[in-house]
Amino acid sequence: MKKIKIEGGHPIHGKIVVSGAKNSAVALLPAAILCNGIVTIDNVPKISDIDAIKEILTYLGAKIECEKDKITIDSRTIQNRAIPESLAKKLRASYYFMGALLGKFRKTEMSFPGGCSIGARPIDLHLKGFENLGATVSSNENQYLVETPKLMGADLYVRHSVGATVNLLLSSVFAEGTTTIHDAAKEPEITNVVELLQNMGANIRGKGTDTLIIDGVTKLHSASISVIPDRIEAGTYVIAGVLCGNQLEITNIIPEHLNSLIEILQKMEADITILKNSIIVSKKENLLPANIKTEVYPGFPTDLQQPMTTLLTTVSGSSTLEETIYENRFKHVSYLNQMGASITIQDKKLTIAAPTELIGREVVATDLRAGASLVLAGLTAMGETSITEVEHILRGYENIIEKLKNVGAKIKLEEI
Ligand code: UD1
Repeated sequence: MKKIKIEGGHPIHGKIVVSGAKNSAVALLPAAILCNGIVTIDNVPKISDIDAIKEILTYLGAKIECEKDKITIDSRTIQNRAIPESLAKKLRASYYFMGALLGKFRKTEMSFPGGCSIGARPIDLHLKGFENLGATVSSNENQYLVETPKLMGADLYVRHSVGATVNLLLSSVFAEGTTTIHDAAKEPEITNVVELLQNMGANIRGKGTDTLIIDGVTKLHSASISVIPDRIEAGTYVIAGVLCGNQLEITNIIPEHLNSLIEILQKMEADITILKNSIIVSKKENLLPANIKTEVYPGFPTDLQQPMTTLLTTVSGSSTLEETIYENRFKHVSYLNQMGASITIQDKKLTIAAPTELIGREVVATDLRAGASLVLAGLTAMGETSITEVEHILRGYENIIEKLKNVGAKIKLEEI
């Protein structure tokens, strides 16, 4: 078990290089098994969610080689094995192996996926899609079995679900005829997956739109892809810079992917400069409050709702933050309140009375982005903040301690 300790109140200055996107990488690695060849993926983040995906690949018989941020996956030796609970529970995105194995072998058996506890998170849209492609889906206590002698193209509806869009892409690339995914999610991570599949020889139209049309092919070949920069990691550090930065540069990013955050920060009159591949931010007094609603891309991302809450505790006046994607993504609130914030929750909306001064406390990272919001709180709070259950944070932020230390934060990781 590990603990993060932060001595707050030190300005951060210098450069933070953003890693590859977790949510892309966790989909690209399972997608690689669709081809009968070798897939090379670079800019892969070194985070524990990727370690968990690599474990599943190895369990299935893939040969993996890693060199710096590059992973080479040889799936020619892969076998269709039931994925046990010990592997599936490690992360939510383990369910991408269902789509990939169903696509490749027309059968998949897997225990229920894990992931952050931020709401019910059903996978009914994934399963309905598999059924519409011709598969039968059965489940016992904690395991799904999905199988079919033949996958047939179909019209699929996914209500902008990121996971269902990716899973149905993976399962339909080999389906006979044409599959149309309606109301597909448009997140940049999905475009990244479409690009890998296209590089492998898949026939997909509509990249970046909410209608993806897949004409089934009979095989896919070796290919390569780069993981796009992590817009949520980038956004977290941009918010850190607004809280306590002094010319903090967040680099190796695609600023356009952060447009919804940038627009809000500009309206709040934050000191923010947008360059081609980076954003420079500094702390400024008397920022304006904001009223924000999370939405699917290109709207304000739910994954930045919790980090943003921390910033809104410091501005001049009351703000609101409405969560429309998940029903229970507010576990950071009680800890921020213990640190001195004044936040109330009604239905799925936070009202943040501000400014309040945050004071270091012992807090718990209940989930990945709650953890990020508490790290940000620790950076700006008076005194020492001590965060437990940091394994959640390390699942999604590569080298967060080193990256923040390098720009002057007083932060350390301790074994407990
Ligand atoms: C992905 C991201 C996560 C992000 C989320 C929304 C990954 C690995 N994770 O999660 O970081 O917070 O997108 O941007 O990429 N839903 C259903 N039925 C389904 C599927 C989803 O009701 O079959 C609901 C979910 O409970 C949730 C909403 O739809 O309320 C959005 O879920 P979805 O877009 O699927 O999120 P994930 O893919 O789990």
